Amino acid sequence: MIASKLIAHRGAALLAPENTLGALSKTKEIGIPWVEIDINRLGDGTLVMFHDDQLGRLTSARGRLADQRWQDVELLDIGSHFSAEYSGERMATISQTLDHIQTLGLGLNLEIKVYPEFTPEQIVFDTIKALDKQWIDFSKLLISSFSTEVLNLLHQWRPDWQCGHLWERIPADWPQLAEALNLVSVHCDHRFLTETQIQVIRSSGLDLYCYTVNDRSRAQQLWDLGVDGIITDNPLALSRMD
Ligand code: G3P
Ligand code: MG
Repeated sequence: MIASKLIAHRGAALLAPENTLGALSKTKEIGIPWVEIDINRLGDGTLVMFHDDQLGRLTSARGRLADQRWQDVELLDIGSHFSAEYSGERMATISQTLDHIQTLGLGLNLEIKVYPEFTPEQIVFDTIKALDKQWIDFSKLLISSFSTEVLNLLHQWRPDWQCGHLWERIPADWPQLAEALNLVSVHCDHRFLTETQIQVIRSSGLDLYCYTVNDRSRAQQLWDLGVDGIITDNPLALSRMD
């Protein structure tokens, strides 16, 4: 297995504000070795750790990420929506994020988001640039995306990097895509995963990771069926079982 049986989703989104440096620290504090985060793109090209294409759900501001520059968002509070304790949390650039993750010694499942406001080339090129500059141990990096185009670009430009395809529902042609893109893992929504798919993926040699599982008995069931790793908002609730 590349990652671990438990991966903190958006940095343990039920225990700290999602996709923040504080959430990464919380993941480390509770002893979870791997974290999943989302990389997104502002209008000025800055890559940031952020899930949505809009500011509204997590900040007091409104607007599309694609309309922001770094100086417009760097002081926004992205912790208060979670709790007063985290009111000092700010959006982090990819550089700050990679730095903090490596200081903590965590493994990273880096999900590359693609929204219609920018192209896969734009975000992949700059993500590669940041990782080339900063990332040290590539055995502790697993890149994933819902975008086949993103994975295709990574395969062309960095063929040795470990990549997995994200799907809600795993398509019938996943083996062909896995071979063409030299994938190491499949990531999917656990609600649509069948036992047959688990068996076939396991026998293919690829890792299988499921999101987002916050229920203990469901996590145990998936592990028992052969799923490699669970991506969860609440690793604390599941960690006593792994
Ligand atoms: O990587 C698993 C999961 O994060 C994918 O969905 O929307 O939470 O980024 P989302
Ligand atoms: Mg994600």
